This record gives sequence, C-alpha cells and structure tokens, in this order.
Amino acid sequence: MTHVVATINLKGGVGKTTTTAALAEMLSGEFGQRVLLIDLDPQTNLTIMMVGERRWGEVDSLNLTIASLFDAAVASNGADYDISRLILRGVSPLKKVMSVDLIPSSLALIGMQEKVAAAALGIGNESTDILLRALTHVVDNYDYVLIDCPPNLETITLNGLRAADAYIIPTIPDVMSTYGIGPIQERVKSHGERWGKSIVELGIVITKYRRASSVHRNTVDDLNRRKDIGMVFPSLIPEANQIAAAAEYADFGTLRQKYGTDGQFTALRELTQDFVATTKVRLGWAR
Ligand SMILES: Nc1ncnc2c1ncn2[C@@H]1O[C@H](COP(=O)(O)OP(=O)(O)O)[C@@H](O)[C@H]1O
Ligand SMILES: [Mg+2]
Repeated sequence: MTHVVATINLKGGVGKTTTTAALAEMLSGEFGQRVLLIDLDPQTNLTIMMVGERRWGEVDSLNLTIASLFDAAVASNGADYDISRLILRGVSPLKKVMSVDLIPSSLALIGMQEKVAAAALGIGNESTDILLRALTHVVDNYDYVLIDCPPNLETITLNGLRAADAYIIPTIPDVMSTYGIGPIQERVKSHGERWGKSIVELGIVITKYRRASSVHRNTVDDLNRRKDIGMVFPSLIPEANQIAAAAEYADFGTLRQKYGTDGQFTALRELTQDFVATTKVRLGWAR
C-alpha cells in the first residue's frame, strides 16, 4: 500500500521543500523505502536540489517535466498520459540513498494555471484530477509518494492535494508563520469533502527552530496545547547552516555528513521515523 503525502503551506520560505527532500532521503537511506518525489512548484527548488541545474535544464528543454502532463491534459481533453516517461530514477547524489525517484518541475507551470483550470476535459474528468489519474500507472512501484506543493491553492496545487491521502504542514514556529495553519486545514478539508475523500492531516513539522528564541519556544508550546490544530511532530528541525547548505546538489558522502552531526541528522531521522509510524497508524500498514 502506497502512501501519497503532500507538503503544503500557503507561506513560502517555511521549509516545505527542504523537509520534503530530507524526508525522501531519510525514507530511502535509513528506512529502505521506495520514494517518488513530485515537484509541483514552478520555482523548481526540489528538482534542482535533487538533480542539479544541468540535468534539470536538459529534461526541461525536452519538455520532460510535470508541465508536460498538464500540457497534454489541456491538449487532449484529459486523455490517458504515461507519467512514467517523466520519472528520473535514483536521483539523490548520496550513494546510500538508492530509491528516490523524481518527477521534475518547470517554470512553464507558472503560465499554465489558468489554462488547466479552464480546460474542457473529457466527460468525468476534472481539472483537479489530472495528476491523480496519471499517477495510478506508477503509484504501486513506491512505498511513499511525496508531493512538494507551491504556496497557493490554485489548480496545480489542488491536483497535488487530490492525489494525496494525507498532508503535512511545515512551519517556522513564530507568530506570523503559524497564523495560516487553521485556514489551510479548513481549505484542505473542504476540498476533500467536495472530492468525496478525506485527506488526513498527519501533522505540523516545526522547521528552522531556534531554541534560544523565546518566541519559538512559546509558539511550539502553544501549538502543542491547542486542540484544534492536530499533532505537532515532536522532532523539531533546528535552524542550521548545514540544512541550508544541503540544498546544494553535491555528493556530501553520508546523510549524516549532509545534514549535520550537531543534532540535525538525528532530528530529521526522528522526524522520518515518526512520519512512518504516523502514516501507518493513520493510513494503514504499508507492507
Ligand atoms: N532547518 C533549516 N535551517 C536553515 N535553513 C533552512 C532550514 N530549512 C530550510 N532552510 C532554508 O530556508 C529557505 C527556504 O526553505 P525552503 O525549504 O525552500 O522553503 P519553502 O519550500 O517553504 O519555500 C531555503 O534557503 C532553505 O535552504
Ligand atoms: Mg519550496
């Protein structure tokens, strides 16, 4: 059983992409899981992190990115699309991380929102189920499909949510960043109801945590106390130079060397362990 999980927050810069990439690498390297990453953000950060700028340029010039799926949906009234042609295999530059595949993104997605939303698709097809339908061909090859969403709830993001069984919300624990959590949860819930499925909220991931900051400490306490927002993953991801540097496409050697031995690796590994446990409890046992 595959778990499809979207990473979402309407705020940018809160660690969505960094968390998604780290989860994928830990799931593969530490827990032996087969992972498919899908980059739905036209900023292409996840893609460039995982395959580097040169390879991304190559696939983008051949139109072998997620943009091609949406292009095809608009051009062919939502006819069946073989998404496996877009999958880049074994993408992580780390040797131990062997089972992370990626569907890359493209800047071309920016101009496509409205075309996709307005497309006259075939009977029974909708502008939000393009990704869901295409994924059915490949989803069984993976234990986890992680979808990195851009910070909006437009049509392409809704394709990510509609394909997802569950979602996580990365947030920096400060006042401004956490305002948006409730509204996102409500919007996801109402979209799920409209589609006749429940999109399970796995939890909030605290990113860029600074222990020395009283605002950060108080916000985490507050989030943990609140009954209305669900689970906060107990592993707090510290703000650390090495986690920022991990965005570079390079062979760092091991996951520990890549993410940092000052507790960063451990925090990310623990987050991943809790993530696996939570998906099993909330969504069913994977194997
Ligand atoms: N734990 C962290 N410590 C330090 N820098 C981080 C951390 N997480 C993310 N960053 C940096 O913060 C910036 C925004 O992170 P990113 O994951 O791209 O956020 P988002 O996808 O939400 O826009 C990037 O430059 C990233 O390298
Ligand atoms: Mg991002």
